[in-house]
Amino acid sequence: MKRRSLLSLAVLGPLLSGCSGADVQPLTFANRLHIPPLAPSEIDPDGFRSFALNLQPGKNGTWGINGDHLGPTVRVKRGERVRMAVTNRLPEATTLHWHGMRLPARMDGGPHQSIESGATWTPQWTVDQPAATTWFHPHPHGKTATHVYRGLAGLFLVDEPGGPALPSDYGVDDIPLIVQDKILDNGRLVTGPVDNGTFGLLGDTIMINGTIDPYVEVTTTQVRFRLLNASNTRVYRIGFADNRTFHVVGGDAGLLREPAPADRVKISPGERIEIVAAFSPGETVVLNSIGENRRDANDPEEDDFELLKVVAAASLKPSKPLPRALGGPAPVIPPPGARVRRFALSGSEINGRDMDMNRIDEVVPAGAVEIWEIDNTTYAHNFHIHEVAFTILDINGEPPPAYLAGPKDTVFLKKHADVRLAVRFGRHTDPVTPYMYHCHLLRHEDKGMMGQFVIVDPGTEHLIPRTIPTGHHHHG
Ligand code: C2O
Ligand code: CU
Repeated sequence: MKRRSLLSLAVLGPLLSGCSGADVQPLTFANRLHIPPLAPSEIDPDGFRSFALNLQPGKNGTWGINGDHLGPTVRVKRGERVRMAVTNRLPEATTLHWHGMRLPARMDGGPHQSIESGATWTPQWTVDQPAATTWFHPHPHGKTATHVYRGLAGLFLVDEPGGPALPSDYGVDDIPLIVQDKILDNGRLVTGPVDNGTFGLLGDTIMINGTIDPYVEVTTTQVRFRLLNASNTRVYRIGFADNRTFHVVGGDAGLLREPAPADRVKISPGERIEIVAAFSPGETVVLNSIGENRRDANDPEEDDFELLKVVAAASLKPSKPLPRALGGPAPVIPPPGARVRRFALSGSEINGRDMDMNRIDEVVPAGAVEIWEIDNTTYAHNFHIHEVAFTILDINGEPPPAYLAGPKDTVFLKKHADVRLAVRFGRHTDPVTPYMYHCHLLRHEDKGMMGQFVIVDPGTEHLIPRTIPTGHHHHG
């Protein structure tokens, strides 16, 4: 399949130029949806499945991984040992973070694992977590918004042998949809507004997998779409133009227990939602995003967009019926007396503090199950925790909608919302290398709306230094 993403922008540019407020631009669905290729891998002499990811400048202001824009899809099985060779061919330092992956902190690719220009970073770990749609993107302190916006992002799929019979033929009935909003000027990516305003960049042009104005042809009666919101700040409320019901089968960190019917799902930056939708032969239907209140186009939640036209072939191959049970992980249930930590979100601070790379904010015993209460005292934010999976206990005191009941790693907080999370921490201990928790609206993250936690051997919490000596940054 010929890639028709940014390359075609030179032609389409004049139609798309202008950096005005984000109004809905009706689409013509002229371009076949690009499907990110599966990343090639080999088993190295030590038995690791190894991948090479090269971060490099592309054309038209974009950056990509093994290409001009976005990255390939990494796909592995639970239980495999993986090794990555991440080479930075960009003009500046960056990192590559495995968002949703449960691994040792030194392999996490957060702000402490800087990869200098010209250098290669080679993290390795054993994939030991349930089937999930995870992803990777840079995480350099203060520069994540620009690096992700330029196009450094890719999917990382974990399969679990013996999982439920869901559509899983990649690119055929299991279709990734990486949703991003951009500002283009004559086919060139405009990067200046990444830091603008309260929320940062809100683009007026949507790209799915790097394709503007996309359509996709489907050939089966049921199709699984893996949605990833890889936008800087925009929140989408996704459904079909005819409001048909579909089934949510997965959240950020894995499958649900059972399919959850829905006709709209809200997805904020960093979140993933897997849905299965049914189609009849020969029909076309548009996937779109409709704001809840439609009052203000400068609000990341409230704009309307067409996203993708789905064109069903004249005859469709019958899919297996959707399983009643999906086998997703049991909800995280906090034990009696579970430790409660509270995080108040304000404009760009957490608990009144800005991110400090040398400060450890929280020390967590390995394997703990805790309650994290997030109290948003201001406008919309979200909250992502590295390394963990959590269950949303409640949002503003109410249980979450069924489609958010599965395992999560990122949660959206509307203006003034409170959420309570039951968080299960992993067992990779390292008292001097922190994981991050932060707002995933990238301007906020860059402005310091982030904190650091370490996971340590239970009983040693009080011995752990709360500062990291300056210069103590692992380079892997
Ligand atoms: Cu998607 Cu701390 O990141
Ligand atoms: Cu925020």
